[in-house]
Amino acid sequence: MIHLPDLQTPAALVDDAVLRRNARDMARKARSLGVRLRPHVKTHKCIEAARIQVEDAFGGITVSTLAEARHFARQGFRDITYAVPIAPRRLPEALELAEQLENLNLLVDSPIAVRAAEDAAAARSQHLSIFLKVDCGYHRAGVDPRDPASIELARTLVEAPHLGLRGVLSHGGHSYDCRNREEILVVAEQERRETVAFAETLRREGIPVPEVSIGSTPTMAVAEDLSGGLQGITEVRPGNYLFFDLFQASIGSCSLEDVALTVLTTVVGCYPERGTLVVDAGALALSKDPGAVHLGTPVLFGRLTLAEGGAVLPELELISLSQEHGKIQCSEQAARRFPVGTRLRILPNHACMVAAHFPEIHLVREERVAETWKPARGW
Ligand SMILES: Cc1ncc(COP(=O)(O)O)c(C=O)c1O
Repeated sequence: MIHLPDLQTPAALVDDAVLRRNARDMARKARSLGVRLRPHVKTHKCIEAARIQVEDAFGGITVSTLAEARHFARQGFRDITYAVPIAPRRLPEALELAEQLENLNLLVDSPIAVRAAEDAAAARSQHLSIFLKVDCGYHRAGVDPRDPASIELARTLVEAPHLGLRGVLSHGGHSYDCRNREEILVVAEQERRETVAFAETLRREGIPVPEVSIGSTPTMAVAEDLSGGLQGITEVRPGNYLFFDLFQASIGSCSLEDVALTVLTTVVGCYPERGTLVVDAGALALSKDPGAVHLGTPVLFGRLTLAEGGAVLPELELISLSQEHGKIQCSEQAARRFPVGTRLRILPNHACMVAAHFPEIHLVREERVAETWKPARGW
C-alpha cells in the first residue's frame, strides 16, 4: 500500500470514509423521499466511485459524455442517461451503444433533434428512449414548459415510430446562484413544481409520461425540507454530493467536513520577504473556477490545510493560478513556517472540474492509498 508521503504531487485524494458517508446520506434521502436515485457520475467518471453510489440504489446512472457512457457500459452499467442534448451527428454512436445496454436514455429539446433521432433510429431499425429536456428556471437548456410548442414537440416524439418518450427531465442549476439554504429551498421547489406541472400538462393531453427526473446537489441538499417533499418526481440525479467542495459548503449544501476530494500539493517556492508561497498545483490541477463569487467574498482558488488534513489554515490565501503554479499570499512569519518541500492539501472550489484534470484519483484510508481509480476521459 502506498503511504501519502510517497505520492508525487499534485495528486487528487478522496477520503474513503467521507465519500461513503456522502453516498449513504444521499441514498437514504432518496429512499425516504420515495424517489429513485440515478446519480450523475460526471463528478468523478470512475467505475469504483459509481459502484459505491449505486450500492443502495437501483443501478441506473447519469453521464455527461458518450465517452463516459461507453466506459461505464463496458464495466457492466446497463441503464444510462446521457444528460446533455444529443448532437445530431453523434446519434449513430449513441445507437450503437444503445444496442449493448438494457436502456440508454437520450435528451432532446428541439424539433431538429427529434427528427434527427427518428431518422437515425429508423435507418438502423432501432428504438431510442428519449427524455424531453425542460427548462425549470435555469435557462441553460430545455423547452419552455409554458409554450404550447413544447406540448407539440412531446406529441411528435410519442408519434415517432422509432422513438419512445421516457419522460421529462430538468436540472435546477440556478441553485448555484443561491447564497444560503433558504434561497436554495425556493429553487428546489421551483425545480419540482415546474417539472411536475409540465408532466401533468402532457398527461392531460393524453401523452404518457412515465418518468419525471430532476436534480442538482444543492436542491437535493434541501429536498427533505420541502413541505410537500418530492411529490410527483420519480427520480433524482445529483452528482457533486459524492465529493462536495468549497462552493457547496459556501452556499450551505454541505459543511467543510463533508468535502471528500482534496489536492495534495508541495511548496516549490517560499518568499517570506514578499509574503508569498508557490505550490505545484496550478490551473491544470485546480481549474480556474473562482468559486462562489456571487457571495461577494474575495476570489480564492481553494483553501489550504496541512498535508494530514485538519482545519483550514486561514492565514494562507490561494490568490492566483497559472498553468502549473499556485500562488499563496500570507504573512512573512507564515511563509517561514512552510519552507520549500512542505506538503499541503487544498480543498478545491469545484470538485467536478478538479477531478476531470487528473489521470488518477487516489482513495485514501487512514493516510494510505487504498485504491487508485482511472477516470474516463474525452467526449
Ligand atoms: C442535466 C444534469 N443533471 C444533473 C446534474 C448534477 O448536478 P450537480 O452537479 O449539482 O450534482 C447536472 C450537473 O451539471 C446536470 O447537468
